[in-house]
Amino acid sequence: MSKSIPKSDWHPASWQSKEATQQATYPDLAALDRAVADLSRLPPITTSWEVDALKAHFAKAQAGEAFVLQGGDCAETFDECTSENIVAKLKILLQMSLVIIYGMKKPVIRVGRMAGQYAKPRSADTETRDGVTLPSFRGDLVNRSGFTAEDRTPDPQMILRGYERASLTLNFVRSLIDGGFADLHHPEYWDLDWVGHSSAAAEYHNIVSSISDSLDFLETVSGRQFHRTQRADIYAAHEGLHLHYEQAQTRYLDRRERWYNLTTHFPWIGMRTAQLDGAHIEYFRGIANPVGVKIGPGMTREWLQGIVEVLNPNNEPGRLTLIHRFGAKSVDDHLPDMIRTVKEMGAQVLWVCDPMHGNTESTSDGTKTRRFDNVVAELEAAFRVHEAMGSYLGGVHLELTGENVTECTGGARGLIDTDLARAYKSTVDPRLNYEQAMEIAMRISGLNKS
Ligand code: PEP
Ligand code: CO
Repeated sequence: MSKSIPKSDWHPASWQSKEATQQATYPDLAALDRAVADLSRLPPITTSWEVDALKAHFAKAQAGEAFVLQGGDCAETFDECTSENIVAKLKILLQMSLVIIYGMKKPVIRVGRMAGQYAKPRSADTETRDGVTLPSFRGDLVNRSGFTAEDRTPDPQMILRGYERASLTLNFVRSLIDGGFADLHHPEYWDLDWVGHSSAAAEYHNIVSSISDSLDFLETVSGRQFHRTQRADIYAAHEGLHLHYEQAQTRYLDRRERWYNLTTHFPWIGMRTAQLDGAHIEYFRGIANPVGVKIGPGMTREWLQGIVEVLNPNNEPGRLTLIHRFGAKSVDDHLPDMIRTVKEMGAQVLWVCDPMHGNTESTSDGTKTRRFDNVVAELEAAFRVHEAMGSYLGGVHLELTGENVTECTGGARGLIDTDLARAYKSTVDPRLNYEQAMEIAMRISGLNKS
């Protein structure tokens, strides 16, 4: 295993000497320091062996032997840290993974955008309403969404509240996985009414009944319930945006001689904070976790080369995931050059497609949405481009929820713009609902059988 860079060259707070974009401006820096110190003393949310296990899984996906399903909310909220929400999210991720396993005949690595997805980048530092200007809402880890000066003032205590919610979430996820998951993957618990509305209804019913037969078969031959024979691990991931939060739970493990970010398993750097000389790249280069970087239309060859060199100097398998999000219209123009750049470097990376963030648009009344057909089109193009270039698309990154919200249009029920008002709950990006997410899984299942 490769060693960390020397400690003298990096430490969990060395990012502070670089420019950190998208950070909150705390009015009381002493209070922030106290919160960071308090957070540093609390036990970690994840362990280094789980983090290393995920890296090993990613190495398999990178080699074409597995597929990564990463999904969850654009932003989790403290209010939605409820039993129902967590169960619904696990259910959709688990059911999607079974559909993809069935189609691809490969193991699926499940990663939730959860247990810490509480900080958001914003296009402006402030928001003005009726002549009043206040700091933008940056997610529950930072401030509150209400439009008062008190709500919007960054509060250092919220990193502690976020840590607690993340721990509660992952604790419940682990309990469900260990014990109560049996029900969730049985097809009678699948909500498949929507399938009848799809032109591919027969094929979709066939997929589900085949999965059902396979599960029954496994349970019969083993004499045990599926969840007793097969552990459905779910890993946690969030955008590593709020660097004080990430720093506070970063630990040096003597026996591994490396630093680990133990707030999560898989942190990623967003599009807006991936500057080579910036604080986020500086922080991420020193941790041993598998790390992701979002790449979109502004990414250049030189920039990408820099990211690969700095974040994975030893070409460690499973270490670096490139999550591309070009949009259905641009993916064919940009992705080939990115793949070529990485190939020319002889670098090993895991390629994942995020078909959400390049396809955000607004309806005529200003509602943020994404069209199901564009999401599918980007995914299809991504599979096609990778295959044509002898590369492997090893995963998908989705914003989804297990609930029946109406935030994205299209899908089997043909949601249209005027349906969106019915159950639009996201305060940030629009998510695929349960049915749309299942349909995406069925599409993926049919897309890649290589
Ligand atoms: C996100 O994943 O919610 C996000 C902000 O994505 P990106 O950095 O790709 O814009
Ligand atoms: Co988003």
